[in-house]
Amino acid sequence: MGQTLTEKILDDHLVEGELETGEEIGIEIDQVLTQDTTGTMVWLQFEAMGLDEVQTEIAAQYCDHQTYQFDFKNTDDHRFLRSAAGTYGAHFSRPGNGICHNVHRENFAAPGKTLLGSDSHTPTPGGLGELAIGAGGIDVTVAMGGAPYYIEMPEVVEVRLEGELPEWATAKDVILEMLRRLSVKGGVGKILEYTGPGVETLSAPERMTITNMGTELGATSSLFPTDERTEEYLEKVGRGEEYVELTPDDDAEYDDEMVLDLSELEPLVAQPSMPDNVVPVSEVAGTDVSQVIVGSCTNGAYEDVLPAAKMLEGRTIDRKTEMIVAPGSKQASEMLAREGWVAEMMAAGVNFSEATCGACIGIGHVPASDSVSVRTFNRNFEGRSGIEDDEVFLCSPEVAAATALAGELVDPRDLADELGDLEDPGFELPEEYDGSKADLIGPDEAVDDELVKGPNIGDVPLKDPLESNLAGEALLKMEDNITTDHIIPATQDILMYRSNVPKLSEFTLSRVDDTFAERALEADGGFLVAGENYGQGSSREHAALCPMYLGVEGVLAQSFARIHKANLFNFGIVPLSIDDDGYESIEQGDEIEIVDDVREAVESGQEEFTVRVNGDEEVTAHLDASERERDILAAGGKLSWTKEQAPGGA
Ligand code: F3S
Repeated sequence: MGQTLTEKILDDHLVEGELETGEEIGIEIDQVLTQDTTGTMVWLQFEAMGLDEVQTEIAAQYCDHQTYQFDFKNTDDHRFLRSAAGTYGAHFSRPGNGICHNVHRENFAAPGKTLLGSDSHTPTPGGLGELAIGAGGIDVTVAMGGAPYYIEMPEVVEVRLEGELPEWATAKDVILEMLRRLSVKGGVGKILEYTGPGVETLSAPERMTITNMGTELGATSSLFPTDERTEEYLEKVGRGEEYVELTPDDDAEYDDEMVLDLSELEPLVAQPSMPDNVVPVSEVAGTDVSQVIVGSCTNGAYEDVLPAAKMLEGRTIDRKTEMIVAPGSKQASEMLAREGWVAEMMAAGVNFSEATCGACIGIGHVPASDSVSVRTFNRNFEGRSGIEDDEVFLCSPEVAAATALAGELVDPRDLADELGDLEDPGFELPEEYDGSKADLIGPDEAVDDELVKGPNIGDVPLKDPLESNLAGEALLKMEDNITTDHIIPATQDILMYRSNVPKLSEFTLSRVDDTFAERALEADGGFLVAGENYGQGSSREHAALCPMYLGVEGVLAQSFARIHKANLFNFGIVPLSIDDDGYESIEQGDEIEIVDDVREAVESGQEEFTVRVNGDEEVTAHLDASERERDILAAGGKLSWTKEQAPGGA
């Protein structure tokens, strides 16, 4: 039987297990990336494990989320990260150089390689044929130390693309249509492999917009085959020699398949406040818009900004609407500036911003209260823009630019009809990507050779090994689709404490209940209860680390998002799944007791647990965990477990 492309790359990197859906496999990792909000813990854990040198082909530390230096805290973190990259042998991308996924694809991503990153949009270079997976920081730490990465073999789903995009429809509309069809849970446990004649009609950057936002489907990764469009991109970024042809076998068998006809697409938007709340723009046309932003790791590349710039050339944006353009990399900014596009956009009324995540996580450009913001980003979870009752729509750069010109949401086809001289700007790559590399410091050019820790850099907290008796209060009961933004908000005032866990923990779940952290500490242990898809969103391991610090022993949820579940194991919190009845049986404040000897049950492979509620009612819960995950849980988390594994460990 033939192999899918996913199987081919995994086979090449397989060090343990067999490629059978649902089986745990260990794979070798070629490249790792980390960014500033997850990176400080990555390096503190690297240090705590006693590792002394990066073992992967490429390790890259980016500074993109918290680039603004309001006081010493972010700057301390940046200095620490530079020193860690220098000390241990990683590349360091300076603050302002751009978003990790953009800079990584420009400089390092390569077909056939494996990439593990402590950021949920790590799958972006799947559009170049790299198998890229987002993970918790400690998984990245361990992989960077040379150990395999373990994962349950996902289902591989064929997404067959037919036809060609019509005028004004874009790669963003492809992934918005996928979200409309499959929802934010539709990709969980899956790798989406794109095939079919529609593939060759899309350039590599367009493919990377699609693979980037496969994360919003909950997919483990998304992957395109390689072809002359891949080669074209690699040549233009100056790495043509890294091209390899990669295709699935003709007789490859997929776990599932779907067909998407590109020619049927039209401009779409995701309405507030979920990326899968997708409708044609025409359905919401006329909605007043106060703010438009073009940027992010989804649509912040040179070739994403260019169509918007062309649409704005010689025009001015509506007086009541502000428009911000924040390219995904400094290289994109530099190229747009050299070609005069920055001046054109400024003349049209655009506020041109630093290459950063920034507004995507509510850092700067926070919308006005009770107003609509239209963004080319990938997420519009409630509150992510920096205010609680935000109304954020997601769309392509073309829809964003048309909206800025009109001052209201508008289908660009209608605006083109109205204006008469507005044409679909198309999607084109530059002759070559020729930005300076001044802000990317290679391991050979390292500035520091020892760690520099300012007062904002704390220690890594450790958890005791798992106990036999687990009991405590149901500290908080939550609904479906709780995101990591709910658990630890990513706003500037909070995430500047990312290297100081005791302080950061004070904000745990504050967006759900602002007394939570205090109550959890007072209760000295307890449980969280949640509905479906608990922990969706980012790879932020602080969303497990901070609850652990506050004494949370277990989470009882109807289902878990993949990365967050892995993070719960990594920080010694027991993730138990419950059914609808179980969820209904438990109320906040109830006394929870796990009847089984938890440590023994975890170690022996027991899957079913009995949870006693308020001393009488009993609920059945399940632990779905591999042997390795059980060992990690028993040890009190991955850091303790890894230390135990090391020669001479406990
Ligand atoms: Fe940054 Fe937003 Fe992407 S936070 S990595 S631009 S999802």
